[in-house]
Amino acid sequence: MNVVVIGAQWGDEGKGKIVDYLANEAQIIVRFSGGANAGHTIVIGAEQYALHLIPSGILYLDKMVILGAGMVIDPVALFKEIKMLRDRGIDTTGRVFISDRAHIVLPRYIEIDKARDLARKKPIGTTGRGIGITYSMKSDRDGIRIADLDWKEKMDELDAADRDFLAPYVEQLKSMSIDLSSFLFHHKNSQTLFEGAQGTLLDLDLGTYPYVSSGMSCAAGAAIGGCVGPRNLDKVLGVFKAYSTRVGNGPFPSEFNLDAEDELCRFVRETGREYGVTTGRPRRCGYLDLVALRYACLTNSIDSLVMTHLDVYDTLDEIKACVAYRIGDKMVETFPASVEALNKAQPVLRAFPGWKKSLTNALTYEEFPIPAMEYIEFIERFCETPIDIVSVGYDRKETIIRKSPWTK
Ligand code: GDP
Ligand code: IMO
Ligand code: MG
Repeated sequence: MNVVVIGAQWGDEGKGKIVDYLANEAQIIVRFSGGANAGHTIVIGAEQYALHLIPSGILYLDKMVILGAGMVIDPVALFKEIKMLRDRGIDTTGRVFISDRAHIVLPRYIEIDKARDLARKKPIGTTGRGIGITYSMKSDRDGIRIADLDWKEKMDELDAADRDFLAPYVEQLKSMSIDLSSFLFHHKNSQTLFEGAQGTLLDLDLGTYPYVSSGMSCAAGAAIGGCVGPRNLDKVLGVFKAYSTRVGNGPFPSEFNLDAEDELCRFVRETGREYGVTTGRPRRCGYLDLVALRYACLTNSIDSLVMTHLDVYDTLDEIKACVAYRIGDKMVETFPASVEALNKAQPVLRAFPGWKKSLTNALTYEEFPIPAMEYIEFIERFCETPIDIVSVGYDRKETIIRKSPWTK
């Protein structure tokens, strides 16, 4: 069975935590897009791991993890991450593989990425990891893939600086390289998790373009970047926070208004520890945007939503969520493509009573206070999608499963 986990907002929804949790019942975990721009956090008791390239199944010693064809891989970041895991006692030997179709990030792409973003009249606020440049080289058919490391003519044609950079990594990368479609076909009876990076609203096509990343972070990206056909994806899980965050620039209609809601913003940022894993930047925070979440459900055929960070709201008297936008004199209930429209959009908020009780120790959904259930069930009705998993803390065990994703 193949289960896809994607972000349903602007990234950092808690995909790493959820993939780690679900990986217990999987044998193979495939990351299908992005690169070292991602930062996926896993917390197990006193141990915290920040993963950027390696799929979030690596902490179970019996799982195979694969960096998929849709990824862009910086060898420096990759081997640094493998070393970090080994130094912390996680044996990665023989279980980290890379699709031979994945693209390689070169140091000069990273420099171009940083310089280009700085030179933009309106910077995107990229992570400076060379992501957009590597995907551009790929689209321009000038990229370097893992498979090319074996192609002498292509390697000979590279600039000396690029060749010298790659030289120390070639043999290691080649030893990890696999034909992903054949590999997955061979393991078709396994339970495979496809781990997304970024989120729907950062997807190159579906997101708030041009304030997006350059990979396919949508569910369809799991098929392309994971080398399986779309009909082989059995289930799509969309992870979202009980509120919204965004790192970097770009429209964010439900962002807290820093004049009137500065205190709420600080509260959410500190309680939710909303600082970027990759860059350390404070994340912009706002109300849950249900217009955007419903758009994510529609564009990704989300079967099941996974709600995270509900515990962050434990102490509030009242909770609000955005149910429509007011744009000029119009009420809008669908997610506009136009950045101009999104920038003008004023959130129409609906208020919910708070539950004023810690959810973190709840073991089942039935133990939740009624106002928490009402918030959850309103979202389900609004998005016409069930919330099958609720995360009430950052620790692996602070996760409540209402319905297992491993059933068709
Ligand atoms: P990802 O990029 O989607 O994997 O998410 P990140 O790891 O970048 O950011 C999510 C942050 O929230 C991390 O610090 C997680 O440890 C933390 N987290 C995940 N789920 C929960 C939750 O339910 N409650 C709280 N309080 N924190 C959570
Ligand atoms: P995870 O997987 C949040 C944002 C950057 C920037 C924009 C483009 O941890 O959810 P890029 O370097 O990709 O060209 O930057 O996308 N961004 C993310 N924001 N979570 C991520 O990944 C992100 N990956 C990229 O902040 O605004
Ligand atoms: Mg992240």
